[in-house]
Formats: sequence, C-alpha cells, structure tokens
Amino acid sequence: MESDWLDVRAKLADLFLKAALRTGAFDKSFDPELRVAEPRFGDFQVNGVLGFAKKQKQNPRKLGEVLLASALEDPELDTRCTLELSGPGFINIHLKAEFLFQWLRRFVGRCELNTLSGKTVVIDYSSPNTAKEMHVGHLRSMIIGESIQRLLRFAGAKVIRDNHLGDWGTQFGILIMAVKRAHLDITRLGSDALETFERLYREGVALTQQDGQALEQARQELVKLQQGDPENLAIWQKINEASYRSFDEIYRQMGVAFDYVLGESFYRDRVDRIYTELQAVGLAEENEGALVIFHREHERFKDQPFLIRKSDGASNYATTDLAAVLYRVEEFHADEIIYVTDGRQQDHFQQLFLSVEKWFQKQHRPVPVLKHVWFGTVLGEDGRAIKTRSGDPVKLRQLMEEAIHWAYAMVDEKNSELAESEKQEIARAVGLSAIKYADLSQNRTNDYVFSWQKMLAPEGNTAPYLLYAVARLNALFRKLGVAPKQPSIGAITTSEERALACQIIAFPSVVRQAIDDLRPHYLCTYLYNLASEFSSFYNANRILGEADTVRNTRLLLCQFTRYVLKTGLSLLGIETIEKM
Ligand code: ARG
Repeated sequence: MESDWLDVRAKLADLFLKAALRTGAFDKSFDPELRVAEPRFGDFQVNGVLGFAKKQKQNPRKLGEVLLASALEDPELDTRCTLELSGPGFINIHLKAEFLFQWLRRFVGRCELNTLSGKTVVIDYSSPNTAKEMHVGHLRSMIIGESIQRLLRFAGAKVIRDNHLGDWGTQFGILIMAVKRAHLDITRLGSDALETFERLYREGVALTQQDGQALEQARQELVKLQQGDPENLAIWQKINEASYRSFDEIYRQMGVAFDYVLGESFYRDRVDRIYTELQAVGLAEENEGALVIFHREHERFKDQPFLIRKSDGASNYATTDLAAVLYRVEEFHADEIIYVTDGRQQDHFQQLFLSVEKWFQKQHRPVPVLKHVWFGTVLGEDGRAIKTRSGDPVKLRQLMEEAIHWAYAMVDEKNSELAESEKQEIARAVGLSAIKYADLSQNRTNDYVFSWQKMLAPEGNTAPYLLYAVARLNALFRKLGVAPKQPSIGAITTSEERALACQIIAFPSVVRQAIDDLRPHYLCTYLYNLASEFSSFYNANRILGEADTVRNTRLLLCQFTRYVLKTGLSLLGIETIEKM
C-alpha cells in the first residue's frame, strides 16, 4: 500500500475532490467535508454535497448521484471501499475488510506524518518569571507546550524549543531594593535561597506600597541593573541561579527539556535596533515621552497603543518580544513561531503579531506565521482559581508531590504485593501523568476544575485508565513470550475486530487534526475511545487457541493498539509503564 494512504481521511477527501472535478458539475470551491461517520452509516461520510448544492441552487440528491458515479469509476476507491448514496445527498463509505487488514500490516509501528517536513517552528513555552518558584499558574504552558512540540516533531517539523524566561522585569527593582535593605549576604545562600528571595519580594512589594522613597529606590535599582551596575548584576545573577535550579528540577521530573533558554535579559542589547527600525518604517511614534505603536484600523488598539519603550527609557515585555521575533527569524530561520500562554495575554500577542506583520511587510521580508496558543485557568473544586488556604497560588512542587502521594495510595490498595520500589515507580508515573492528562484532555481554551478524584479515577478518560490499557497489553505479550510476526495472511471478520481496526486507522487523521488546531485534547478523546474499543474486542475475541490466521490478525490488532496507545501518550508527554 502506498504511503499516502496513511491518513485515510485526507486521502479519501483528495480522491473525492478529484472525482467531483472530473464530473464538471463541481468546481474547486467544493469541500467534500470528509468525516468519520456514525457506525450505523459507515466508516466515513462525504457531507459536503449538501452545502455545495445549496450554494449552486441545485438538487443535492442529483449532485450526489453524479459524484457517486464518478467515484465508482476510480479504481483506487473501488478496490478499497463500497459506496452508497444516503439521505438527501450524503455518500457513505465502508472500508473493505481486506483494505483494513492490508493497512494495518503496512503501517504498524510507522505512523509518523510528513505534513510539516521542511518547516522550522520555534515554540516558546513554559517561560516562567524568575525570582519565584513555579506555581499552578505555570502548569498549563509547560504541559500543553510540551505536547505540541512533540506533535509538531511527529509531523516532521524541525522544532526549536525556547524557554523565554521573564528574567529582566520590574520584579528585580523591588527585589534588589529588598535584598539591600535586608543586608542579605548573597555569597552565602543555602538550598532555600529561592524561598528567601520570594519572602523578600513580598516584603518589598508591601514596602513600596506604603513608602514613596522605597518605591523610588526600587525604580532606581532597576535602572541601575539595566545599565549594567556590577553590584545589582551580581544580585540578579544569584536570583536567577536559584530560579534555574528550582525550575530544572521540575522539568526533569515532568520530562520537559529545551533547546534554548533565552530569557528576556538575552535581548537587552538587541532592543535599540527595534526602536530604530520601527521608527524608520513609520510604525512607532513618540507619545508622552514613550514610544508606542497604534493600530488605527483596529477597534480597540486604535486608542490602546502597544507600548514598546517606557517614558523613562526602559524597554519592556513588548520590546523584548519584538526583538525575540527578529532573532528567531534571523538566527533560527523560523517559518513559524508558537507562543503558549494564558488567555489573558491575548491582547499583547494580537498587538505583537499586527506590529510584526506591518514591520516585515514594509521591509519586504517574508512574515513568519505567528500563533498564540492560549489556555484557560485551572480552578479549585469551589470553581475559583486554585489557591492554598493562605490565598497564595499552589506551588507546582507541592502539587506534584501530592499527585504521587495519591497515586501511591491507589497502587498500594490495588497491588499491595508489589515490591516497595516498584510501587514507588508506578506511583510517580501515574501521579505525574494524571496531572498532565487531566490538563491535556480538556479543550485548552476552557477553564477546568482540578480534582484528584477525577484525574486518578481508574475508569474513564484518565491517565490511569490508559496506562492500565497499555500494561494489560504488555502482560499479554509477556504471556505469549514472543513479539508477533508480521502476518502475511489474515482477515478482519468479527464485528469487534472491524470496530477496533477502524478506530486504529483513524490515528493519523486525529493527530493531523490535533496539529492543525494545536489542540491535544482531540488526541486524548481518541485514545480513550480506542482503549474502550480494545476492551470490547479483547473481552469478546479469543487469541490463544484459535487457528493461525485468526490468531495472527488478532495479534496484529493488539500490537497496533499498543503502538498507538504508547505513541499517542508519548505525544502527550506521557511515558508508559510496563506493569501497573
Ligand atoms: N514570562 C511570561 C509570563 O510569565 C510568559 C512569557 C511568554 N512568552 C513570550 N515570548 N512572551 O507571563
């Protein structure tokens, strides 16, 4: 089978479009709208005839007949599917059993896409601010970003992971002031350094709110830092080192890694060029001492300018982001840049993207594709942003420990006879996966409620359920003692085999859809359905004690299911475990 059949949905869409164009009754605006069908109608369905007929003021049923006749003449379709016209103009597609079997044989272990080959994508994610421990507000960018970068790589893109740390912001003015006032000896900091800095920062903020002099000092400390004052730079350096140590520990546990960690400070010598270029092309203008960009054609931004240099001459978040776009285009040759942040930054990114588009167009440079992948808030069970009892955001470190703790209790109850070390290993994998999966299985633009009970449930659309499905397959292959050989003959016969096979062949199409929309939850829903379909198959169809051809086909289905579950979970940043 040719490799272009990997994504069956896309291939069918392509063939139906061609069949339609051959009739002369359709034009290029026709979208076959090829969708996975409800099982009682078939495996796929062409839904687009109705909409097209309506636009053209034609009879949909007649047009459907014309399309069906043309499709039936295509040997590529005719050998693989049976087609029928249904209702007012739908075409139902049933894949032939022989095609299903050959497809499974051809693609088992080989489902990587190539839709993004040759593309360089920079992905900017996690990107916390230094001087503070990571808290629950930093969870989603890390988890969603990690999954998206894995998906893009799976589709063949060259991916550059860049952690754009907030290490140059106003927090340092306040913090340096507080460090100096407390006479903190930065040469003798212990492992709790970051906690000390966090406490000093809180005190500093309180002070600047009451005391005008402290506020002024904080401002000056920031200016001094930005001008390269050695004492302030040394304090800044210590704060960052303590932050890196704490971030790295979280990344290590969560299986997240970056190619570059170019924080905001990296761009400090690259901002002057931004001011010059943006003024030269007439995009930036002086406004009350500051440098700003107005997007006058825009509803809101016409009087809400994009501030790129403050009136005291300091650069800001926007300047750094403009410099980072330039750097990523010039140094990394980025075709596309993806930013993964909270939904509250939508205005910032819209203004950034508009500014970059105009700036690059005026300079006749190719404009990179810029995408803001934003997400909603993590809520507590009371439906409000999740907080500790004292009102602070929950620290990520504590959240992770708690997850492992709950998962341990679960493993211990289910499998108390396992060795202690094994229990701990499973608890770690299950606990951390549960946090990731609970996040990824939600449409990212929604808020979601963080609930231990839900995310650790052994049944349902959860990490434990999927990890268990993989462990069950592992146990099956352990019991058989051999990896299945590629069967040369076999057949899909029972209804459970057929349902499972159809579910499996949808994998590449689903991954493609998750990549097109940058929404990993499509993949989660799919994996959950696949695991359920597998369960029904496994309960109804014996493997051992059947004739060779039957056994081989079923083993192929098991092997492919395991491959898809493992691959799919790894695309979510979740490593599977052998036993559970
Ligand atoms: N440090 C920012 C924050 O914590 C996120 C940075 C996102 N990336 C970017 N290039 N602006 O909100």
